[in-house]
Amino acid sequence: MQQRARTPVQDWTTDWDHLDPQWIEDPYPIWADLRQKCPIAHTERFNGVYLPTRYADVRAVAYDTDHFSSRRTAIRETHHESGGGAPPITSDPPKHRLARMVLLPPFTPKAIAALEPKARRICNQLIDAFIDKGSFDGAVDYAQHIPVRVIAHLLGVPEDDGDLFRDWINAVLNEGITDYERMMRGLVEMTDYFRPLMEQRRKHPGDDLISYLVKQTYPDGSPFKDNHVLGSVRLMLIAGIDTTWSGIGSCVWHLATHADDRRRLVADPSLMPTAIEEFLRAYAPVTMAREVKQETEINGCRFKQGEMVLLSFPAANRDPEMFPDADKVIIDRKENRHAAFGLGIHRCIGSNLARMELTVAVEELLKRMPEFGIGGEVTWSEGTVRGPRKLPLKIG
Ligand code: HEM
Repeated sequence: MQQRARTPVQDWTTDWDHLDPQWIEDPYPIWADLRQKCPIAHTERFNGVYLPTRYADVRAVAYDTDHFSSRRTAIRETHHESGGGAPPITSDPPKHRLARMVLLPPFTPKAIAALEPKARRICNQLIDAFIDKGSFDGAVDYAQHIPVRVIAHLLGVPEDDGDLFRDWINAVLNEGITDYERMMRGLVEMTDYFRPLMEQRRKHPGDDLISYLVKQTYPDGSPFKDNHVLGSVRLMLIAGIDTTWSGIGSCVWHLATHADDRRRLVADPSLMPTAIEEFLRAYAPVTMAREVKQETEINGCRFKQGEMVLLSFPAANRDPEMFPDADKVIIDRKENRHAAFGLGIHRCIGSNLARMELTVAVEELLKRMPEFGIGGEVTWSEGTVRGPRKLPLKIG
């Protein structure tokens, strides 16, 4: 990763940095400390960013679209916009509504149930490749491939193009935080890949998501602009891959490091739905950002116009005021209104798909290898999507 040497953080309340190795390794104690000391921290890094750590404050920002804009949804070293936008995630009201409504039908529970057999086949093909080897990497050999192949199938593009997709996601979500040129190269490559496909699907529509998007119209009857379709397709890759891959990876990591929970799930698969929700809560992968559009105050903290807010749904999910024993993973937790899929108007459109993929990935793995454990050094991603990137496991 091409990244400038970073000054280590001395004071997390006034100088926090989500790219600091301590945060990347284990952010939970940092957030717990901030929640006690000053629930809304600030940093001058990245041109000024606020960090709410309590559920109530994260929720207040997420719901307040009058003062907080989604125009910029990532914290970057530079002040550039996110490069063409990705509606609806980068849209504010009133434009947000239409961009969102159009994406809902392909992600209904019924539409997602139809994809489940495909997802099970993908998982089993991946497991076939390593089950007899005695070891595998839960992130590299398993988690990262599942969402890429499912999304490729949805978009009607070759599943083998997964490496390309991952490279673009890395450009936008990781390296792009500190390297603007790298982010733009990724965005241009994505556009060059999808534009001809959009043309082709206009002429020869199929039953894929690109064909669905190019035939959508605005209320005045005019067709969706190319940039709108491109933005939404880009969003499918950026929102649908890294997130779910990280979510699956964290489930597998937990089961590898907590034999008691793993054995309990194997013995009683009816616990699967509450276990998946609990993994989503405890290891929520996605942190977003907002730009302060207009000065305001929340919980005694003034938010200055033009600065950013890191909207940590993962920190909200560990708030003990909202979740008793918040740092404990309780796989049969009953009350679990977690914020892993966001809060407010931008709540995740792909949550049915994500839940299905997480469930299927864990179920198929446990069916075929009920016993596995950590086999080497685990590393975690940097940036705003959190999950294991190296997860060496030994089988048996
Ligand atoms: C475990 C996996 C996932 C997690 C944790 C997750 C999390 C989130 C979160 C926190 C938001 C809110 C963003 C904000 O407030 O700015 C969001 C929005 C969104 N997600 Fe997901 N997501 C996941 C998977 C997916 C998948 C598989 C798709 C689709 C392929 C998807 C599509 C979207 C879209 C389109 C939005 C924007 C909705 C809007 O702006 O109205 N996500 N997601």
